[in-house]
Amino acid sequence: MLEKIAQLQAQAQADLAAVADGPQLEQFRIKYLGTKGALKDLMGLLKQVPADQKPQFGQRANALRQQLEAAFAQRQQELGTKAKSSTGPLLDVTEPGLPPKMGRNHVITQTIDDLIDVFGRMGFDIATGPEVEDEFHNFQALNIPLSHPARDPLDNFYIDDKHLLRSQTSTIQIRVMEKTPPPVRIVAMGRVYRPDEHDATHYSMFHQVEGLYVDRGVSMADLKSTLLQFVHVYFGPDTEVRLRPSFFPFTEPSAEMEVRIDLGNGPRWMELGGCGMVDPNVFKAVGYDPEIWTGWAFGLGIERLAMRKYGITDIRWLFENDVRFLRQF
Ligand code: DAH
Repeated sequence: MLEKIAQLQAQAQADLAAVADGPQLEQFRIKYLGTKGALKDLMGLLKQVPADQKPQFGQRANALRQQLEAAFAQRQQELGTKAKSSTGPLLDVTEPGLPPKMGRNHVITQTIDDLIDVFGRMGFDIATGPEVEDEFHNFQALNIPLSHPARDPLDNFYIDDKHLLRSQTSTIQIRVMEKTPPPVRIVAMGRVYRPDEHDATHYSMFHQVEGLYVDRGVSMADLKSTLLQFVHVYFGPDTEVRLRPSFFPFTEPSAEMEVRIDLGNGPRWMELGGCGMVDPNVFKAVGYDPEIWTGWAFGLGIERLAMRKYGITDIRWLFENDVRFLRQF
């Protein structure tokens, strides 16, 4: 019986010497030290050992186990492998998985959703229009004469002689009024295009929100109170609004809309866009009788709104699609 131990020892030592890599070492472990391994079998023989030899057999078998375990550990170190010493399943199915990375809406999309929400609650319908426009909707119907510098091919992305990428969402005012008899109360959001050189505040594509309200007896006071309502929801109830006289061909009178907000360095007036009372020539272009109908309109830059709200100081960051930037919003 004791001979069996010596045999096992010799064989194990020879096997271990032949181990060349992690998987082989694992084979070795299973064969000798595993729960169904040779050493376990050896202990099983203890019953058959004559009583007087039992202590000696036990001692020798234990000594062999310790020796093989030590040799195994040493070989494991030499091979630099972490050969599995656990006998449990290699795959722990109870471990929590890797959470999938969730996407999110772009900050401009979020801003558009906010605008839809605010103006929706004020009773405005949402309108849309094409990004490729004809000159009639982009200029003529908006009372922008042929000679106006805004029509300059260098200031627009013309596609052919008569079509261009819209340079303003005011085109949608025309499209809505052409199909809808008054009264009208809409907002429209979308992309507009201008061949501006890119810098911190200019980009050749950006977004605008256009508002149009047409009814009988509409006044500039309605315009200002609507804009005030909007900025109170969007920027906070302390935000002030002022309308600074200006000029747009499609409104008379016209104004720049400015808000007073504090971006951390004290409150300052900042321009958000233009507005005014719809010019009678615009009503005539769409077949509304300017003697009956009155209205106001506004057009604000969506990037500006978002940049003011979130303190973004460079418009280019919005379109670089760097998720490290975008996931902050
Ligand atoms: N379309 C003008 C622009 O892009 C903004 C604007 C001004 C829109 C006055 C309006 C308005 O509806 O009434 O600069």
